[in-house]
Amino acid sequence: MLKIRPAQLNDRNDVLKFCVNTFDWGDYMDQVWNNWYSDSNGRLIIAEYEPDWRSIEPDTGIKSSAIVGVAHVYLCPNRNMIWLEGIRIRSDYRRRHIATELIRKMLEYGIEQNAKESAAIVSTNNVQSQQLMQSNGFTTISKWNYFNGYVTRNISSVNGYKVKVAVLDDIDSILIYLKSSEIFRLSGESYVDMWRWYPLDSTSLHHLIINKTVLVAKNSDYSIAGIAIIHKDYDKQLQIQYLDINVNQLSVLKHLILYAIDLDCLNTKQNDRLQIFSPQVSYINLVMKFMGINQCEEFLLYKRKI
Ligand SMILES: CC(C)(COP(=O)(O)OP(=O)(O)OC[C@H]1O[C@@H](n2cnc3c(N)ncnc32)[C@H](O)[C@@H]1OP(=O)(O)O)[C@@H](O)C(=O)NCCC(=O)NCCS
Repeated sequence: MLKIRPAQLNDRNDVLKFCVNTFDWGDYMDQVWNNWYSDSNGRLIIAEYEPDWRSIEPDTGIKSSAIVGVAHVYLCPNRNMIWLEGIRIRSDYRRRHIATELIRKMLEYGIEQNAKESAAIVSTNNVQSQQLMQSNGFTTISKWNYFNGYVTRNISSVNGYKVKVAVLDDIDSILIYLKSSEIFRLSGESYVDMWRWYPLDSTSLHHLIINKTVLVAKNSDYSIAGIAIIHKDYDKQLQIQYLDINVNQLSVLKHLILYAIDLDCLNTKQNDRLQIFSPQVSYINLVMKFMGINQCEEFLLYKRKI
């Protein structure tokens, strides 16, 4: 019989055995297990077949249960949304609706927490996961490009815009800018933080500005020409988590990226990793290409009301 239950510390080895070559680049489960296991704002859950006639070892008669799936659900800081991640099913147990059961359990957690919506990200290469999300009532909200490169300082600078770290006085003008931004609409009104997509609204913007992670580019008449949200993590990766520019002012993008790289407090060095997330917009791709920053993957943001 299939049982979905909270993870226990000693499940780790069994889980990591089938979370090795999940994707062509491997898997990250070993790196997140400890954090997810002890997460007080979420739940790490396990799918396990309990002993029954199918698991009696023919030679010994010893009954053994089998851990066949894992997933993590996280309650976002706004407590309105849950984030679904790390769904893995042992390859010999797939297509038995085990992932569907894990999703059902994660949505149940959302209801318990009084959350109103759930979200997840899936690579455009991962067709089975896209099917899984659709078959569980999720719809695509936005399509994202992920660029991965290294910090280089040989990008030539351009003149014309003033970039600065946004302060709380900028919040109203940023919100007005976003309201009429095509990129903001295409983003599903979201930004990325450590591989989770959050609503970009006045509350999150306030928080981001206080943390000095919003860059704003202004024209000479002080109107906004572009916005970036940045982050430097403990792994020395500079992340640009949201990028927004006007189609008529493409060079703003270069300004924003250069400013982020040069920002003193981030202490970014040549050859540090540079990750950029951007809603899929053709003219951003073009500028990135021009700057020698390669796109490496595309992702779909899925959401579902709960
Ligand atoms: C994607 C994954 C989690 C699905 O797990 P699963 O337990 O096999 O999924 P389910 O049995 O609950 O599938 C539910 C529905 O999703 C769709 N689906 C799942 N796997 C599919 C596949 N390989 N091909 C086509 N559709 C698929 C089907 O509509 C299926 O319903 P059906 O079997 O009645 O047709 C599993 O294949 C896996 O672990 N993959 C590797 C890790 C991964 O990609 N994780 C998700 C990261 S976002």
